[in-house]
Amino acid sequence: MSKQAKLDLNGSAFTLPIVEGSEGEKAIDVSELRAKTGHITLDDGYGNTGSCRSKITFIDGETGILRYRGIPIEELAEKSTFVETAYLIIYGHLPTRAQLKRFSDLLTAHQYLHEDMKHHFVGFPSTAHPMAILSAMINAASCFNPDLMRGGDAGQFDDHAAQLISQVRTIAAFSYRKSRGLPIIYPKEAYKYTANFLHMLFSTPYEDYELKPEVVRALDLIFLLHADHEQNCSTSTVRMVASSHANMFACAAAGVCALWGPLHGGANQAVVEMLEDIHQSGDDGSKFITAAKDKTSGKKLMGFGHRVYKNYDPRAKIIKRACDDLLNVMHIADPLLDIAKKLEEAALLDPYFVERKLYPNVDFYSGIIMRALGIPTEMYTVIFAIGRMPGWIANFKEITDDTKSRIYRPRQVYVGPTLNHYVPLHDRK
Ligand code: CMC
Repeated sequence: MSKQAKLDLNGSAFTLPIVEGSEGEKAIDVSELRAKTGHITLDDGYGNTGSCRSKITFIDGETGILRYRGIPIEELAEKSTFVETAYLIIYGHLPTRAQLKRFSDLLTAHQYLHEDMKHHFVGFPSTAHPMAILSAMINAASCFNPDLMRGGDAGQFDDHAAQLISQVRTIAAFSYRKSRGLPIIYPKEAYKYTANFLHMLFSTPYEDYELKPEVVRALDLIFLLHADHEQNCSTSTVRMVASSHANMFACAAAGVCALWGPLHGGANQAVVEMLEDIHQSGDDGSKFITAAKDKTSGKKLMGFGHRVYKNYDPRAKIIKRACDDLLNVMHIADPLLDIAKKLEEAALLDPYFVERKLYPNVDFYSGIIMRALGIPTEMYTVIFAIGRMPGWIANFKEITDDTKSRIYRPRQVYVGPTLNHYVPLHDRK
């Protein structure tokens, strides 16, 4: 017999089915609750709400497990590349050699932006945040793709996905060059995904940027570790927009906006700004820890805490190690890394953080790596967006492939004024 939950509502008994995931996660299916009882569920911030069934990413936040399509993040970080992992996330399995070649070739084929898009970059002020440019330009790119504007069809999915993954990197690099008043550098066919991004960021018209393997590998790892993270704020936004049958680029542009906030992807920029402030003030981190515990200070320990992880974020473990390795190889002694480590040490012993199960998340050390690579602070969240694109596309695909998918449309509990009549302007006090 299938499992059920019993609900006693004002003396009437109702049964609700229990749904079980492939890793044993249990959910009470309330999809018929309102029809049967006249009640809805209320879940501020969706902390207890499963919004979908998904086959892409598994997280066990209590023990610190993250798997893409069943494969542990630690294995992928050690053995895979961002492009191969992107394929895995989108198509559900590791590619064969031929599939990987086709995917890489598609990325290369789609790396150029339409030349007319260059005019759009000119219109932004040099102070524009690259996340604003990224979101606007992803939408603009869709205008150069009439098939997409007509909704596209399943046969074009591969092309559209490759175009988005490839062009988000070109747009990101162009927006950086624009913000610095530098000439645009075009992608090179010979370079692989991450090397090409670094080339577009840092080469000059007269000299190619020297691509050091450790630098390319460190950035590729950052992309890979950000590639998906189940129903976070931006991915849920992508699914929400996709549920209305908006096109893939419109969904991704919405994802970029959701990611921008400092409680989500914007945290990587906020962490480094926090560490810089601490450094400049001469604090070793102890004063800041005290302030972060005080709710009236307006401060938080950025890069700490997570809705799902109540343990060390497995991505943060990998990034912390990569950060140490990279700084060693590059012979960089960054005082911000010392402050970050002191903050972590203090927080992990402090009852405030221990009781609330607040641990470093993916954003705590990633900014220090990007700083070492010479990537400017305002680009950190853009790097996160480039990495997250395969996850957004895979979630978009789950919605569009599901013939039973319905428009996302939560309800609310209205707490505003009750019936109230219009008063003409001349009668208002
Ligand atoms: N510093 C100080 N206190 C914190 C922090 C922090 N970083 N994070 C949570 N708390 C406290 C919070 O004030 C609350 O205390 P109390 O129970 O006394 O009211 C308690 O811990 C529970 O926190 P919450 O805000 O209810 O947790 P949440 O699940 O709603 O928020 C979070 C999760 C990630 C938004 C939050 O931990 C946070 O703001 N962290 C800092 C920003 C950050 O690093 N964001 C990146 C998240 S990981 C990457 C991503 O998803 O983009």
